[in-house]
Amino acid sequence: MSAANNATLVVEDLYTAYDKADVLEGVSLAAEAGRITCLLGSNGSGKTTLIRSILGLTRPNRGRIAFADAEITGLPPHKIVARGIACIPEGRKVFPKLTVEENLRLGAYQEASGQVVAERIEEAYEAFPQLRERRDQLAGTMSGGEQAMVSIGRGLMSAPKLLLIDEPSLGLAPLLVKQNFDIIRRINERGITVFLVEQNVRQTLEVAHYGYVLSKGRVVAGGRADELAATQEVHEAYFG
Ligand SMILES: Nc1ncnc2c1ncn2[C@@H]1O[C@H](COP(=O)(O)OP(=O)(O)O)[C@@H](O)[C@H]1O
Ligand SMILES: [Mg+2]
Repeated sequence: MSAANNATLVVEDLYTAYDKADVLEGVSLAAEAGRITCLLGSNGSGKTTLIRSILGLTRPNRGRIAFADAEITGLPPHKIVARGIACIPEGRKVFPKLTVEENLRLGAYQEASGQVVAERIEEAYEAFPQLRERRDQLAGTMSGGEQAMVSIGRGLMSAPKLLLIDEPSLGLAPLLVKQNFDIIRRINERGITVFLVEQNVRQTLEVAHYGYVLSKGRVVAGGRADELAATQEVHEAYFG
């Protein structure tokens, strides 16, 4: 890991519960700077809970989260975002009654300079020309694929070092899934570290460099993406 791209995320022995129900039970993993790391797990295995824990939205009971060599466990969400972490949430939540451009702007709410915000909006339109044409359209009236672009564009508006992506393929038609994964690859090629949680095994392992398998709140396997596909743990986590 180079000092210039010091964006490694480390999760150590993390326990998170809602009320009395334990969800994460001792999760340890790392998303190394510059890579795409994925966490595969079936519905209810705890993927979103891990993302919420990393973002400071749900407080873990035990364990530690560090980003760029500094502990972030227990920090409030806005401070975690200020460290350079952004999230594209499950279900691509856009603000339906706001325009495309207003949605993008919200992703940069911590950026004080209007000029910087304008530059980032321009970058988002360069990445997604369709959004420029529809800048004044209400996001809620757009197609699922277009809403996905708004959601990804908004995630990039804070110029994050690390992007957390929660099930980008969920509910999208196959062609849009492929398009979304291509976009994720391009984002990573620009130097942004990606941590991706997914149920879609095959396409996720195609785009990721490294992966883990989460089963009932525990990491049951980890390895290079090309090796992970063949393991018993991946098979059992889904079909076992
Ligand atoms: N806000 C919540 N309150 C109580 N239980 C929850 C809450 N969110 C999720 N859970 C439970 O935690 C478990 C893991 O959920 P989640 O992290 O959403 O899994 P995944 O994202 O892998 O589908 C599930 O059993 C789910 O019902
Ligand atoms: Mg989820």
